[in-house]
Amino acid sequence: MTITPADWGRFAGAEVMRIENLFAEADRLKDFSILTDMPGGEIYFDLSKTHLDHGKLDLFIELADARGLTDMRAQLLSGEKVNRSEGRAAEHTAQRGMGNEDSVALAKHLHDRMRALVEAIHGGAFGEIKHVLHIGIGGSALGPDLVIDALGREEPLCNVEVVSNVDGAALEEAFARLDPQTTLIAIASKTFTTTETMLNAASALQWLEQEGVEDPYGRVVALTASPDKAVEWGVDQSRVLPFSETVGGRYSIWSSIGFPVAVAIGWNEFDAFLRGAAAMDKHFAEADFTRNAPVMGAFADLYYAQVVGAQTRAVFAYDERLRLLPSYLQQLEMESNGKSVTRDGVPLNVPTSPITWGGVGTDAQHAVFQLLHQGTHVLPVEFLASKTPGHDLDPAHHQNLLTNCFAQGAALMAGRGSDDLARSYDGDRPSITILLDDINPASLGALIAFYEHRTFVNAVMLGINPFDQFGVELGKEIAKAMNSDADMKFDPSTQKLIELSAL
Ligand code: F6P
Repeated sequence: MTITPADWGRFAGAEVMRIENLFAEADRLKDFSILTDMPGGEIYFDLSKTHLDHGKLDLFIELADARGLTDMRAQLLSGEKVNRSEGRAAEHTAQRGMGNEDSVALAKHLHDRMRALVEAIHGGAFGEIKHVLHIGIGGSALGPDLVIDALGREEPLCNVEVVSNVDGAALEEAFARLDPQTTLIAIASKTFTTTETMLNAASALQWLEQEGVEDPYGRVVALTASPDKAVEWGVDQSRVLPFSETVGGRYSIWSSIGFPVAVAIGWNEFDAFLRGAAAMDKHFAEADFTRNAPVMGAFADLYYAQVVGAQTRAVFAYDERLRLLPSYLQQLEMESNGKSVTRDGVPLNVPTSPITWGGVGTDAQHAVFQLLHQGTHVLPVEFLASKTPGHDLDPAHHQNLLTNCFAQGAALMAGRGSDDLARSYDGDRPSITILLDDINPASLGALIAFYEHRTFVNAVMLGINPFDQFGVELGKEIAKAMNSDADMKFDPSTQKLIELSAL
């Protein structure tokens, strides 16, 4: 299948009204917002401040049918081999109970093992454990970092430090905050070969040794889809928590990669996180496309990326607890859909993933929003907020946070004319708002699952495979070559940098 600009050109003939004027239609708000009833509370998805209208939706539904979205969704959710280039399924939903029967049973079994270890730690089987030093990178770090930062703020059962960067300064900084005698090290790596993680793990082990910890290896837990490699590295089998090869790195927070989350907030809370995601899986599997939050989210993404030509999309969390969400979404969306060929290997001549970026509100308002309101780039903006605050301070804080969030969406859409052009706002700038009742394990699980499915729908609509990431290999190979072969020659620019750094 080849996707051509002509596929999106069909939208060109359609009338594009100002978003504000679309509200002249009585049911606009009802038709372009979705209220989902999730275990952690309701999540309200408001897409009414986008240019999507019924005419465009009809075209999207036609394209979705042509792309086989219903069938592809069924394949994903039943554990078929949707990751064709690697000949395997993408079974993150099996971790939450939906998928191939054997895979769901295996996930349950592995979760039980993980639970036993988590409860043993809480029960004192490893002595007093106050800290977990979680070492991983990419999908093996971003998920734990996001979820613990969001949910582990109030009296966590254990303090977790996530270290990903190979820059020794990151590890050193973490050491300074940790007591080696009460620290457990979690090495998280799907492959158990990632250079940065293995080097950080070796240095962490050395730190335990140097600090006089009696049995440093006895303090290491491995979270991996390559258990043999973890055992070879020196981790005792009983402390290796495996997960299936079919769970992609950026989709792995639901597997044993979520171990530090469970240690920090407790097993029951981790289980609620899984249940929240399961509820979103059900919604994605069953809701009609026009009432389906991930599908509608993807339609909006595609409209702006393919038809309007927006190269980026911005996500602003108006909640400190979600401050790491933009970084998490960068990997989820850009590593999944930053591709140049269809899943059949045919070059694409349309843009694939827009560049995801963002920040936290209200801070971002005072830094980057000028461009959003008056710059020449038009890009879709996404706001996230929670009805319930994550603190006990004066309610004025939350009131201000939410009013600012809602005011930005309103201002982007309405704009304001002025004779002085420097003070004039065109408006008609699109935004989506996602309003959660609260941020808790179940609602966060549902929210992350929403983004996973939306990413998948984007991929299906573009005909690409979101589950491989061959593009990251070349740089790794070159770095390896530089590390291992001092005589190897590179291009003149790179060669000079190597010489200047005395590598
Ligand atoms: O280089 C990219 C990547 O392969 C990501 O897809 C993955 O999440 C990350 O590296 C870490 O890989 P691993 O979990 O195997 O250490």
